Amino acid sequence: MKIAAVRTHLLEHRLEVPFESASMRFDRRAHVLVEVECDDGTVGWGECLGPARPNAAVVRTYADWLIGQNPLETGKIWAKLYNALRDQGQRGLTITALSGIDIALWDIKGKALGQPVSVLLGGRWREKVRAYATGSFKRDGVDRVQDNAEEMAGHRAQGFHACKIKIGFGVAEDLRVIRAVRAAIGPDMRLMIDANHGYTMAEAIRLGQAAAELEIDWFEEPVVPEQLSAYRAVREGQPIPVAGGETWHSRWGMWPAIEGRAVDILQPDLCGVGGFSEAQNIMALASLHGIRVVPHVWGTGVQIAAALQFMAAMVPDPVRLHPVEPILEFDRTHNPFRQAVLQTPIEAVQGVVAIPDGPGLGIEVNRDALREYRMAEA
Ligand code: NI
Ligand code: CA
Repeated sequence: MKIAAVRTHLLEHRLEVPFESASMRFDRRAHVLVEVECDDGTVGWGECLGPARPNAAVVRTYADWLIGQNPLETGKIWAKLYNALRDQGQRGLTITALSGIDIALWDIKGKALGQPVSVLLGGRWREKVRAYATGSFKRDGVDRVQDNAEEMAGHRAQGFHACKIKIGFGVAEDLRVIRAVRAAIGPDMRLMIDANHGYTMAEAIRLGQAAAELEIDWFEEPVVPEQLSAYRAVREGQPIPVAGGETWHSRWGMWPAIEGRAVDILQPDLCGVGGFSEAQNIMALASLHGIRVVPHVWGTGVQIAAALQFMAAMVPDPVRLHPVEPILEFDRTHNPFRQAVLQTPIEAVQGVVAIPDGPGLGIEVNRDALREYRMAEA
């Protein structure tokens, strides 16, 4: 079995209502899928986190070396590709592009062996996971306090047990939003806050101290990801558990935050950290220090499927009769191709998502959707 072709599929949808996090404005949704085809006709799918065109360019750079390789040798290929761009790589797009390739190779391995990736990773601990609803970006032309509260009440009505809202727009306004959301969803629904590294250290501590009484499960990306000592200061200076990790790539990117106790909850993204191969290494590092892992998800159904396979295989820490279960980040913002790229969309039913059990990622990609949402000049 040999790799015969590597393709990228750039997808895009212009948003009718643009929205913002603390650090980024979205006027369109754009993601890139990776397709690896083998000489026997087997096809594997992956996805890269982050900007579509630059990721695709790096995937194409790796592709020259991939042709003719045995796709089942995932560890060897990972190390070779990493080394190919190591001197100018190590973080960022070189790893997010490698992630998309690695996920596609594990999809191929699963199909070749007739097993879901989760079994190849060590075994399925669970057949379903609870999802939490991510939304509440700042949308153009609406009152953010009311808009966020109404949206989260809607997620509660659909059966979600937990939701995550966006902050980082200013401590006073953010506190009004958090209070309004807590009032709208009631006392029992779990609530998380995500500043998308929009705060200074002092603002983050002030926000956390004031918001703690509103029962917040975690405070995500309070400060910029390079400032690990500021992360630690936020952990020490306010009572809400601190989460982060969606911008830390590879085991070397994660290790300083793990060893340095920068976070209570680590959020590796399968499509960002280096795919299944590297996410396994990161799980091992986190287990050395008892750090809870909750994967980050922000992409299409391919990424959701990859996260689900990984989450199925996550070993409970500790193993006990009723362990702490992982929860799936479920993006609820507008993106029509998120589900359209799959023949069978992965949906939450009363806030619970079934983990596919077919070979590989357990999905089939809908090529009609790849054409319909193809990025202009892709
Ligand atoms: Ni639209
Ligand atoms: Ca986030």
